[in-house]
Amino acid sequence: MANRGGFSNRLGFIAAAAGSAVGLGNIWRFPFEVGDGGGAAFVVMYLLFCFVLCFPVMITEIAIGRKTDKNPAGAFKALGYKNWSFVGKIGIFCGVLILSFYNVVAGWSFGYFVEISMGHFDIGSRFTEFTEDVLTVGLYAVVFMAATAFIVSKGVAGGIEKAAKFLMPTLVIIIIGLVIYSLTLEHSMEGIKFYLVPDFSKITPKVIYKALGQAFFSLSLGMGALITYGSYVDSKENIVTSAALITLADVGIAFIAGLMMFPLVAFMNGGDMTNVSGGPGLIFMTLPGVFQTLGPVLGVVIGSLFFLLISFAALTSTVSLLEVPVAYMVDEHKIKRNRAVWIIAAFIFIIGLPSLVGNGYSAFFTNFITYFGAESSTNFMDFVQHIANDSFLPLGGCLIVFFGAYVWKKENLNEEIAKGYPGYKGSFVEMYINFAISYLCPVVLGVLFLLTVLNQFFSLDVMDMLF
Ligand code: PHE
Repeated sequence: MANRGGFSNRLGFIAAAAGSAVGLGNIWRFPFEVGDGGGAAFVVMYLLFCFVLCFPVMITEIAIGRKTDKNPAGAFKALGYKNWSFVGKIGIFCGVLILSFYNVVAGWSFGYFVEISMGHFDIGSRFTEFTEDVLTVGLYAVVFMAATAFIVSKGVAGGIEKAAKFLMPTLVIIIIGLVIYSLTLEHSMEGIKFYLVPDFSKITPKVIYKALGQAFFSLSLGMGALITYGSYVDSKENIVTSAALITLADVGIAFIAGLMMFPLVAFMNGGDMTNVSGGPGLIFMTLPGVFQTLGPVLGVVIGSLFFLLISFAALTSTVSLLEVPVAYMVDEHKIKRNRAVWIIAAFIFIIGLPSLVGNGYSAFFTNFITYFGAESSTNFMDFVQHIANDSFLPLGGCLIVFFGAYVWKKENLNEEIAKGYPGYKGSFVEMYINFAISYLCPVVLGVLFLLTVLNQFFSLDVMDMLF
């Protein structure tokens, strides 16, 4: 293990894993998914999925990683199931896809930091022009990918851990400050109501699978990021409490990001919450105007700090995304770490170009595909998200728990968990995990995967067909 590096201590691992989990998923994606998914009903589904379905998946991933000290593909092989390494490979592929578009959005956030530092509050109303200016956003994306590659090349404890420990708490403080401010604005309660009072009639199959995809994406699950990070963890650590802390941190930050966002949306819309669907532009279009209301000095300080911290939160996530294919190349193909980092980063940047130009600049990638039976086209970035976040991550989670329960066998998994958790054997936690990984997760995730594919890509509504 020494030559692969490891986290310096328990907090290091939790900070890094939480750093991976907390990112654009919480602050950019969660609010607009809630908006598109009809508000509080989406939030309820999301919370349910995080705690009931995703939590056992997270424990299984960390345990597999720690047991094997390997990247996702190598881990299945190391346990003696070479023909299961395809699950790891799908995960690695998925991570590459996610990083390719994620880096573009991270570049936007960084660009917003620059714009707001210069006092350009009107950038919110110029969001579309901003994303269409491919040279500028392309440059931000290059900077972001280079920063990610630099940190990953420094190795696990040196780069990843240090950055995460310092930046996360600062981000939380500033978001809480903004929550308090947003609650003082006019119409804030309409926003809170939209966010927190569920209207269960709004739960459609689409809301369900979108919430599931968001839960997996936000927790960095289903593609082996936590197998990889788990491989750097010491066997004295308690996987269950670590997973609980990571989940709570991630869900907690998404939740307060929503508390910040919806009062602001209500304020901007004059209290009208009937048509909230901001799409990927939601935070970018809404927030600059709000910062402006803080006045020229405070607005610039808080606004630029906010986008800077989001960029850092994104950075601890892009780092974990890049770490996965890098660990794979280093472990399985014996490529030097430094080389692997820069080659893969360049490769992923290139795969991300269609996402970069597909937000208005290139008509082809902006109207990339029209699914069967769909009314309008989907741009390249959304297309990648539908495949990677909404489909492959839950499928990966399904296969990982299935593997843990039936192939590697739950006795072995439990033994690994018990190493850092003396009271585990025979406890209620063990019972729940056994039940979840053997029955609940594989069945529900498998069914929801099929439902997602049929509905998302073929516009088929399984519920309608059955009932
Ligand atoms: N969880 C990260 C976020 O919410 C994104 C991510 C997904 C990171 C998958 C790693 C793996 O921003």
